[in-house]
Amino acid sequence: MTDAAGSRKPLTTTRLRAMKGKGEPITVITAYDYPSAQLAEAAGADVLLVGDSLGNVVQGRETTLSVTLDHIIYHTEIVSRAVRTPFVVADLPFATYHGSVDATLANVARVMREGNAKGVKLEGGRDIVPAVKAAVAAGVPVMGHLGLTPQSVHVIGGYKVQGKQSAAASKVLDDALRLEDAGAFALVLELVTDELAAAVTERLSIPTIGIGSGPRCDGQVLVFHDILQYGLDSAPKKFVKSYADVGTIIRNALAAYVGDVKNRSFPEESHTFHMEEATIPQLYGASDPGVGGEPEEARREAVPADKE
Ligand code: KIV
Repeated sequence: MTDAAGSRKPLTTTRLRAMKGKGEPITVITAYDYPSAQLAEAAGADVLLVGDSLGNVVQGRETTLSVTLDHIIYHTEIVSRAVRTPFVVADLPFATYHGSVDATLANVARVMREGNAKGVKLEGGRDIVPAVKAAVAAGVPVMGHLGLTPQSVHVIGGYKVQGKQSAAASKVLDDALRLEDAGAFALVLELVTDELAAAVTERLSIPTIGIGSGPRCDGQVLVFHDILQYGLDSAPKKFVKSYADVGTIIRNALAAYVGDVKNRSFPEESHTFHMEEATIPQLYGASDPGVGGEPEEARREAVPADKE
């Protein structure tokens, strides 16, 4: 847990809905590990999403389909433990909420209990309404996700903008209303046109959170690694604004370290521990019992400078 959140109160679904009412934008950032979650909280993020985008940006996969419930639980537990104020939502991975309601609830329960999430996100519209209703009835806040739903990328045929034609747009709007009716507390709209996002946002009383869906949603979500250009092979995306080039900073810093070790300019005297002068000769006496006791002593020596 961190103090970085200062006096801010933990976010709730009630507060998120009130933010929509007041026209206060909702900020969502994906998070997968302890330091990034802490940094996102310190930056003031309202919601942290442990997205299955971790399949892409953490695991280096082409799609999110390989992400398992255990992966999500592992990362969610870490993120939840790192923060106090943001509302932590965990993605339910591919094919973990399409079987029986009992199986879905068992998966949702694991994410909530073991991951310590405050809510879950499910992709899809009318087809997943029973799953949404069951989770909500069990006391679990559910975030919907419409438009480009990456878990269905092979049906959709690629990562492309959704709902451009009126029939497709009407279906998204109708699905959005059904999800709200089923009890969802918020809805992610991924890669839909600005016009469709605005219409959905106006019709719903729950907040919409856009990604690649224009400025008229109630909030925005971006992937942590995209905001920071954290990684080497992230191709630029039209809908992403990067605020730093952390990838270049990290690569240069690591290259400097490698260079320093290669040319023996690291470690320096200031990074180095020493024995008592008088003990040094014993090091070279092979049968001296003092040498056997050495590793423990050396470990005790290796304490941070400020603890000495
Ligand atoms: O998995 C994810 O990170 C997401 C966001 C991009 C909305 O679903």
